[in-house]
Amino acid sequence: MPEAKAERQRRGAGAGASQLRQRLLGIAADLRVHKLHLAAVAPAAAASLLPALAVVALVLLLLAASARRPPPSSSSFSLDAYRSGVSIVPAATGGGARPGSAAAAAARVPSGCDIFRPGEWVPDEDAPYYTNLTCPHIQEHQNCMKYGRPDTGFLKWRWRPAGCELPRFDAAAFLDAVRDTSLAFVGDSLARNHMQSLMCLLSKVEYPKDISKTTNPEFRTLHYESHNFTLAIFWSPFLVRGYQPDPSRHMWNIHLDEPDAAWVTGIAGFDRVLISAANWFTRPAMFYEAGRVVACHYCLAPGVPDMTRGHSLRMAFRAALRALLTATAAPGFEGTVIVRTLSPTSHFEGGEWDRGGDCRRTRPLVAGSDGTGMAGLDLDFHTAQVEEFARAKAELEASGDGKGKVRMVLMDTTPAMVLRPDGHPSRYGHWAHENVTLYNDCIHWCLPGPIDAWNEMLLQMLLPGYSP
Ligand SMILES: *[C@@H]1O[C@H](CO)[C@@H](O)[C@H](O)[C@H]1NC(C)=O
Ligand SMILES: *[C@@H]1O[C@H](CO)[C@@H](O)[C@H](O)[C@H]1NC(C)=O
Ligand SMILES: *[C@@H]1O[C@H](CO)[C@@H](O)[C@H](O)[C@H]1NC(C)=O
Repeated sequence: MPEAKAERQRRGAGAGASQLRQRLLGIAADLRVHKLHLAAVAPAAAASLLPALAVVALVLLLLAASARRPPPSSSSFSLDAYRSGVSIVPAATGGGARPGSAAAAAARVPSGCDIFRPGEWVPDEDAPYYTNLTCPHIQEHQNCMKYGRPDTGFLKWRWRPAGCELPRFDAAAFLDAVRDTSLAFVGDSLARNHMQSLMCLLSKVEYPKDISKTTNPEFRTLHYESHNFTLAIFWSPFLVRGYQPDPSRHMWNIHLDEPDAAWVTGIAGFDRVLISAANWFTRPAMFYEAGRVVACHYCLAPGVPDMTRGHSLRMAFRAALRALLTATAAPGFEGTVIVRTLSPTSHFEGGEWDRGGDCRRTRPLVAGSDGTGMAGLDLDFHTAQVEEFARAKAELEASGDGKGKVRMVLMDTTPAMVLRPDGHPSRYGHWAHENVTLYNDCIHWCLPGPIDAWNEMLLQMLLPGYSP
């Protein structure tokens, strides 16, 4: 296949080491997520836990060191154990809860307005909606103001689609729109970033209650009691089954035709599922179909053909969307599927992620100016996602078997977000002296920040009569 050939040629050009660094980026992001989460969940108990935290810190430093040196010769740590979760402040500590607040009429975009593209970021004096003092749900390493980000101008913008205004987020209207329903996020740490933005926006009205059936921080279920709205998150960074056969090596086995049971069984009965994935497809991987190795990405194994990152993501989306539309594959799911396109992977400037690359801009890019379109890996991923969405939607409309209630909606956030290299934590996701692996985070989004626009978009998508 031509994609594979191009990839081989790039490799042949001697880009191997830098490609591997690129590939390890997702791993690095993940390590520090966990480290900071520990600090987030136990502020009160921290003093009595100092010795334990010191050990944890040492382990994480070792991990960070091993992640930096590709490939590590030996390590006994499992990356799977180092993920973070959503931290929930008990409802009792929250002020501002107004259970049963009156239903609000949500403002809608006029029909025919595409809320996703084209559009531009325009100044907004009323932004942001919340601060780290009014929202207790901000993941530590996305609390950019806490870690000393000096500029606040990046907060003062809103997304304006061409030809119409995107109404402001209205927490009461959102809760009214989702009354007596459930919404599941499925994906990686960007899905969590999105959900925490939503929780911050809703915290004007209510804090949710944690009703999770498991203690696993990656699988949370939250309930907004006043509106009987259930929100859940399922960790599934590939959407299909993926695991590390040997955690001491940075190699993943990804079964491109096996939707990940972690979410497929969990979403039964949900009214809406919002699925997303991209970043983890940059990792070195062996790809399986029907249980056999079909290709790999950066495995350097003789005789195993390469598969591009865009193609592996495409096949995983195909399998995941098929499962959602098939009664036997995702039994009990008859809701709305929202496919969110990727959050850009391309915002490091001046170097790669571990070679001084950073995102130090303080204002959005101007739409339409040079270099502001999607390109490279972002374009490959986006094309695969949009095409697989269209393919699945066509299959759904053609078949109409047993899943008559399933709807599919595309949430095309990428065009807006490629313009926001200023919205990431950069080096303000941790204290300056902390030796973290992903020192400059140009992947996740500050809270508050431009990702809050995703929920302005989501609210529109939930209103009756929304037509994509
Ligand atoms: C930070 O960690 C790296 C290894 O991950 C190490 O080489 C470096 O010396 C450390 N720097 C400091 C200031 O501790
Ligand atoms: C919130 O941000 C301010 C800086 O704007 C910082 O001083 C404070 O520690 C942060 N508080 C929390 C709870 O994150
Ligand atoms: C709460 O919402 C769920 C759907 O998410 C529904 O099945 C249940 O009946 C609702 N409960 C009440 C008390 O209305």
